[in-house]
Amino acid sequence: MKIRRKNMKTSIFNVLEKLEKQSSLEKSRKVDVPPNERMLAITKETGEILNMLIRLKNAKNMLEVGMSVGYSTIWCAEAIIENDGKIITIEQNSEKIKRAKENFQDANISDIITIQEGLAIQILRNLSLDEKYKNFFDFVLIDADKENVIEYFDMILPLVSIGGVIITDNMLYPEKYREEMKKFSSHIKSNQNVRTITSPIGNGEEITIKLR
Ligand SMILES: C[S@@+](CC[C@H](N)C(=O)[O-])C[C@H]1O[C@@H](n2cnc3c(N)ncnc32)[C@H](O)[C@@H]1O
Repeated sequence: MKIRRKNMKTSIFNVLEKLEKQSSLEKSRKVDVPPNERMLAITKETGEILNMLIRLKNAKNMLEVGMSVGYSTIWCAEAIIENDGKIITIEQNSEKIKRAKENFQDANISDIITIQEGLAIQILRNLSLDEKYKNFFDFVLIDADKENVIEYFDMILPLVSIGGVIITDNMLYPEKYREEMKKFSSHIKSNQNVRTITSPIGNGEEITIKLR
């Protein structure tokens, strides 16, 4: 029996459901999607947790690094919208941005999302130079390329408010990222300004809180 997500707007529910179907086809390899068109989305379970954490924290200003076609963004937006918040999300692939914009329109959440197109490192550098964004974000999702994950984290931390939360995807899966994510894990665990845990949810989610 299909259980409807309670209290979720139909427009958002429908887009999430459509993307979940696409994602499971992609993962099952029943369709042959070229690598640069793959959604590579977080799991539904991770989407639910992100949504719940945003609600618990009453987060208003969110930053996402690695939007793809917007599945994770929509899960977060569903909660952020209720807190009267906004999302800045970064993506370099213009075709995915086009698909994400359509998804945001269909979900009726475009108003609260600003897409920054380009290389994450460059965009984060620009945000860091703007005083407005110092200690600004209370919720962050890092889910882009893994080679630069340490650099992203270090650039993002000063932009996060005290008590703000940073989630990093793919801590445990796929296995090809294990070595990089282990280095990332030791890097953040040695930082006295954060408290962090690796949770087995989805592909392994690092949940980090900025303490000071
Ligand atoms: C794992 S996918 C993101 C999935 C998305 N968070 C979701 O769950 O729906 C990673 C995305 O990051 C983008 N990306 C990879 N490296 C990037 C970079 N250096 N700058 C900006 N975007 C990047 C890719 O194009 C890809 O769409």
